[in-house]
Amino acid sequence: MKAATATAIKPPADFAVEKIRADFPALHQKVHGRPLVYLDNAASAQKPQAVIDAISDYYRRDHANVHRGVHTLSQRATDAYEGAREKVRAWINAASSCECIYVSGATEGVNLVAQAYARPRLKSGDEIVATISEHHSNIVPWQMVCEQTGAVLRAIPVQDNGELDLRAAAELIGGRTRIVAFGHISNALGTVNPVAELTAMARAAGAVTVVDGAQAMPHLRVDVRALDCDFYTFSGHKMYGPTGSGILYGKEALLDSMAPYRGGGEMIKSVSFAGTVYHDLPHKFEAGTPFIAGAVGLGATVDYLGGIGMEQVAAHESAVLDYALARAADTPGLTVIGRPRQRAAILSFTMDGVHPHDIGTVLDHEGVAVRTGHHCAQPLMQRFGIAATARASFGMYNTRAEVDALFAAVGKVREMF
Ligand code: ALA
Repeated sequence: MKAATATAIKPPADFAVEKIRADFPALHQKVHGRPLVYLDNAASAQKPQAVIDAISDYYRRDHANVHRGVHTLSQRATDAYEGAREKVRAWINAASSCECIYVSGATEGVNLVAQAYARPRLKSGDEIVATISEHHSNIVPWQMVCEQTGAVLRAIPVQDNGELDLRAAAELIGGRTRIVAFGHISNALGTVNPVAELTAMARAAGAVTVVDGAQAMPHLRVDVRALDCDFYTFSGHKMYGPTGSGILYGKEALLDSMAPYRGGGEMIKSVSFAGTVYHDLPHKFEAGTPFIAGAVGLGATVDYLGGIGMEQVAAHESAVLDYALARAADTPGLTVIGRPRQRAAILSFTMDGVHPHDIGTVLDHEGVAVRTGHHCAQPLMQRFGIAATARASFGMYNTRAEVDALFAAVGKVREMF
C-alpha cells in the first residue's frame, strides 16, 4: 500500500482529541525534560480520570466481598460487579451476561479455554490451528494442551505484506481440526485479520474458534454475535481499563458443557466430602474473591468509550496511522514491517544499522515511549528474519504533532548512529 503524502492526511475535524487528552492525567507529564509522547498503547494504554475515579470511589465507599453478604456494602459491591458484567455484555453484544466470564486478561482467557475446553476433549491425532503471527499467549497455552493430549499445533503462515495466507489456512483447517485460534489484530504488525472468513472455515470443519481480541477492543466496536466466534477474549488494560481485568466471552452452550477451570469458594452451589455441586455460569469459572475493583473499572471504561464512540476513535486513529506511514515512507533507512491492507494503529519498524533497543533508548530520551523487542511474537519475527522491531502503537489520544515528535526523535537516532 502506497501511503498518501503526509500533508494530505487530516484527522476528522469533529474528533475533539485535545478534550480527550485532558481526560488522561498520565499524558500531561515530562520525561527526561520533554513532554511525554506515549506511543506504547499496544502494550498498555493510559487510563482516563473517569476510570481512576470509579476504582477509587469503589474502594472509598462501596468495598466488600461480592455475592456473600446480606449487608449493604456487600450488596453494593455485588451490584457494581454484576452491573459491570452487564455493561460489557451490551458493549460486545453477547446474548447473555452469563457468557462473559471475568478473567485477569486475554492470557487467562486463552488458558481457560485451553484447559477447560480443549484438554478434556482433545486426543492424539487432533489438531489445533493457530497463526504464525500470534502473541505467545495464543501459542504457548495450545502447546501445553498438545503436550497434555497428544494433539498437534499447526500454524497458518503470513504473507510478505503481513496478511494471513488464507489459501494455506483453507488447506490447514480440515477434518482433524478441533480448534482454530487467532488474534483479531496482530500486536506486532497491526494487521486486522479476517475473523468472519476464518470463523466460517472453522465452522465448516466442525472446529471451534478462539479469538484473541486484546488488540482489537481499543480500536473497534466488537460484536461477538456478528463475528459468530465461539470464544473471544480481551484484556481491560489495553482498552484504557485496569490491569488484571478482562473478559472471556463464550457461547453459553459451550461454556455450559465445560467443567470448571479452578476450584474454590464462589464457584459452588454446595460442598460436602461426598461431592460438590458446581455453580451455574458465569460463577463456576470465577473461583475465589474476584478482582471487584477491576470489574468496576472495566465497566467505567466501557461507559467512557461509549461516550466517545468507537467509529470516531477508529477514524481518528486511522488518520494518525496514515500520517505516520507517510512520514515513515519519507524517512531514509527506515523499514516498516508489513503492509497489510487492513491495519490498526500499529507501526513496527527497523532502521538500517541500529538495534531496535537503541532506537527505543534514544526515543525515550526525547520523551517518546515505544516498545522494542520481539513483542511476544517470536515466530512472526522469525518469519520476517528479524529479532526485534521498534513499535509505535497509537491510541485515541495521540495526535499528528506526536507523530512529528516521533519522527524528530527518529532523526536524532539517525544522527547518533
Ligand atoms: N501484548 C503486549 C504487547 O504487545 C504486552 O506489547
